[in-house]
Amino acid sequence: KKFLKKSDILKGKRVLVTAGPTIEYIDPVRFISNRSSGKMGFAIAESAFENGADVTLISGPTLIKTFVDRKEVLSADEMYSEVINKISEIDILIMAAAVADYKVENYSEEKIKKNSENLTLKLVKNKDILKEASKFKKDNQIFVGFAAESHNVEENAINKMKEKKLDLIVANDISRKDIGFDSNDNEVTIYFSSGDKLKIDKMDKKKVADKIIKIISDLIK
Ligand code: CTP
Ligand code: CA
Repeated sequence: KKFLKKSDILKGKRVLVTAGPTIEYIDPVRFISNRSSGKMGFAIAESAFENGADVTLISGPTLIKTFVDRKEVLSADEMYSEVINKISEIDILIMAAAVADYKVENYSEEKIKKNSENLTLKLVKNKDILKEASKFKKDNQIFVGFAAESHNVEENAINKMKEKKLDLIVANDISRKDIGFDSNDNEVTIYFSSGDKLKIDKMDKKKVADKIIKIISDLIK
């Protein structure tokens, strides 16, 4: 992948992007996770960089390579720590990561043997990184979230935006089979805290990322 300088619209802006899934280990060989290729988040981090920003990318495990400075984490707890550590030093937070909502209550140091017909895992909720980060939010900071929805996309997305104190939320309709997840294309609708909404037609994730970055830079002005 080549770095292509596009503009200076985000020059001097410190942007923190999260991407990819988190994985929550059950024992040394098993984990639960979320579907996410990381493509959309990596594209956003790269677009921010190409438009002059100072970018930090925090991602769960993915095979994607990038020219952006990247810190890899595994669990939601690790991602939470990284985000909260940096929150006071950034101008823009973009949470594109598919954070696992639950982790096992008790991690097993020993590999769990298959010696019973049923296995029950007790899961406990992970911290909501965006919601926690929003407690530290300053007026001049921009927070961007993503919403993965299979139904009532608009209503759910707007509720998340309000609950997490976001300036805008990028809604993905995951019931669509031709976009999202492993696809190179995406089609999203952006909801703004002002009440506006904007549909971005189906296109390459890299182009979607460029549009999102342009929209964010217009908000700062
Ligand atoms: N998110 C987060 N911390 C979590 C879960 C989600 O910061 N523990 C962020 C995601 O990165 C995304 C936004 O919150 O930017 C919405 O994530 P989503 O999974 O769509 O919504 P949830 O609030 O987790 O609700 P649900 O999965 O029940 O729809
Ligand atoms: Ca979730």
